[in-house]
Formats: sequence, C-alpha cells, structure tokens
Amino acid sequence: MNESGAPPKNIVLIGFMGCGKSTVGRELHQRLGYPLVDMDQVIEQTAGKPISRIFAEEGEVAFRDMETALLKRLIGETGTRQIISTGGGVVVRPENRALLRQLGYVVWLHAPVEALVERTGRNHHRPLLVTEDPVERIRVLLDERKPWYGETAHLKIDTAGLDCAETTTGILESARYFFTQCL
Ligand code: S3P
Repeated sequence: MNESGAPPKNIVLIGFMGCGKSTVGRELHQRLGYPLVDMDQVIEQTAGKPISRIFAEEGEVAFRDMETALLKRLIGETGTRQIISTGGGVVVRPENRALLRQLGYVVWLHAPVEALVERTGRNHHRPLLVTEDPVERIRVLLDERKPWYGETAHLKIDTAGLDCAETTTGILESARYFFTQCL
C-alpha cells in the first residue's frame, strides 16, 4: 500500500540476467507512457559508481542492501504507475520477494539457458558472470533462483519464440485484467 491506501499499479519485471527486462521495460514505457525505473541504473546513480565497482569495493551484500532499500522507497512513492525493471538477483532475499509482491504486478520473463548465455555474453559488465565458466555459473544460479522467480511472480512469460512486441502485448493484456480484478 502507498500513502493513499491503494495498491500500487506498477508493472514489475523480474528474471535472470539477459532475459530481456530492460528491452521489454522500455517497450512497456513507450506503449503505456508510465515512467521506467531501472533499478540497476538508480542504484548506480545513487552510489555514484557502476555495479561492478559496488561489488568489488563494497561486496554483494552491500549491493543487496541497496536493492532492498530501493524497493522500500519505491513502495512508499505516491506515483504508483511505473514500469520497474529489476536486477536478476533481486529475488535472492526473502524480504525482497515480499516487497516485490507489494510493489505491483510482477512478471517473470523466462528464457532458455541458451538465450541467456547468448545475451549475457555480449557484454562483460556483470560481476557475477566474471568467472572462468560463465555458462556453468548461469546454470547454477538459474537453478537456484527459478523457484524464487516462480513464487514471486503473478505471471510467468516464456519468451522463447516471442519477440519484444509480442511479449509486451502479453504483459499488457494480463496486467489490465489483473488490475481490474484487484480494484
Ligand atoms: C545481478 C543482475 C544484474 C545486476 C547485478 C547482479 C544478479 O542485473 O543487478 O549484476 O545477481 O543476477 P541484470 O539482471 O539487469 O543484468
């Protein structure tokens, strides 16, 4: 609940690194005109440094604290219609999973491992994948996190075979239905 007592009408995108949260977030922003909040970007701006440096200098726990603090701040905001794109590890903390559900309609963008490997291989700014065997790391982390994405999401979209426009249309249709039901 926010200050007005109404449940927020945000659309919250969760899913593993490289699943397309940022791209689909931008498309939702364009179609709905709601502001787009990219949590990774907000954290980088607030910390004044890229995520790779936050991990290197302050550690992962500090980064997770920043995610939790930002989720709490977003829940308290009165502008309740936003598109919120999260970092892939936001579901790791049970507290965050509960906060995400309070934040709005949570959509899990699910993609096959091969697609995640391909997309995350295009750049090297993700500290958790800077390892000798990033493919194995993706498999291990994904196995661990899948149940958490599942329990947090109101909707799971299998993005295999869908382009960004189709994925976005699916989200919009089910979000409209969801928000009508919970009025
Ligand atoms: C992380 C995912 C990243 C970023 C950080 C940690 C993770 O976000 O938050 O590097 O734990 O999966 P993206 O999912 O946008 O890459």
